Amino acid sequence: MRVGLAGLGDIGLGAHLPALRRHPAVRLVQVADPDPDRRSAFTARSAGRADDVRVVAELAPGGLDGVVLATPPWVTPELVVRYAQAGLFVLAEKPVATSVEAAAIYEQLDDEQRQRVQVGLTYRHDPAIQQLKTWIDDGTLGTPVLVRAHIYDEVFRPADVEHTARITATLAHGTPVVHEGAHLFDWLSHLLGGRPESLDDAWARRTRGDLQAPNLTGARLSYPSGHQALVEFGWFTAALPRCELTVLGDRGLATLDGFTFDLRLTTADGDRQVHFPGDRMTRCFDRQVQRFIDLYDGTRKTGDPSLDDGIAALHTAQLVARSAR
Ligand SMILES: NC(=O)c1ccc[n+]([C@@H]2O[C@H](COP(=O)([O-])OP(=O)(O)OC[C@H]3O[C@@H](n4cnc5c(N)ncnc54)[C@H](O)[C@@H]3O)[C@@H](O)[C@H]2O)c1
Repeated sequence: MRVGLAGLGDIGLGAHLPALRRHPAVRLVQVADPDPDRRSAFTARSAGRADDVRVVAELAPGGLDGVVLATPPWVTPELVVRYAQAGLFVLAEKPVATSVEAAAIYEQLDDEQRQRVQVGLTYRHDPAIQQLKTWIDDGTLGTPVLVRAHIYDEVFRPADVEHTARITATLAHGTPVVHEGAHLFDWLSHLLGGRPESLDDAWARRTRGDLQAPNLTGARLSYPSGHQALVEFGWFTAALPRCELTVLGDRGLATLDGFTFDLRLTTADGDRQVHFPGDRMTRCFDRQVQRFIDLYDGTRKTGDPSLDDGIAALHTAQLVARSAR
């Protein structure tokens, strides 16, 4: 599969590029970023490599089978439409847009083009998420369950100018719930048997007056079968609470470490730790590329996760963000 990578930023260079290079069925033929410094960073990182990759400001669809879009979410939607309409397979970073209104652009795609789009909800298929689902579905934890999701990331380090600029720009396009909620609301729908039935409460706080959007947000949601979720998202304070998900039922408690995805199960029978081989990022980005290849060679008929999955998570995130306001 001849692939182009658009967006040579943090996740493009740090995760997509190595995952694409690790897969034997991928030939990386073009990389693109309008920012010359980012193109230089790619060239420096690739020094000494024998592969023949064109480094350009904008991907040219000719000669490509697929594109990976590691671009900001206010740029991604238009690129998805452009490359899907050009007949390419598209792996697009989450969130699929910064608002439901901005996601309306996807209505320009016909069914066949939509099916060629895979969304970078990278961690959904991690074995830890599957294990949690098994414990919920087979009654190990008891039912219904209460999920507490504490999604805290992006410590405020003003001395790190690049990171501060990136998170400031991202906050200008929505609260952390829009950006991190893409992952979390996708997991919750997967774990709890469908989309939320109601949003019961929502709140937001801004910890500094100069922030472009509230950097702390939370909500209480009801899911099918009486499951409940208490979710919190936080960015950009000098210290952060632990990032983790707990799932509590009458019979037990499961805890997912938000960074490593290590699991702990506590029941009347005692404690059990579950650790999956490799680090979470490598594990998930490799699986994601494999799914993209499966989509290209016809093993999968639609993106997994699909564009509809990405839009569904965005709907919930936006509902929380707007209700909190
Ligand atoms: N799946 C995950 O685990 C994960 C993790 C981190 C970030 N992300 C998502 O990835 C996206 C990018 O995040 P990031 O942290 O790498 O941001 P970043 O700002 O570091 O990188 C984005 C890059 O895209 C480039 N760009 C802008 N317009 C472009 C265009 N038209 N064509 C090509 N490149 C263009 C920018 O110049 C920049 O280099 C965001 O949507 C973010 O939410 C996903």
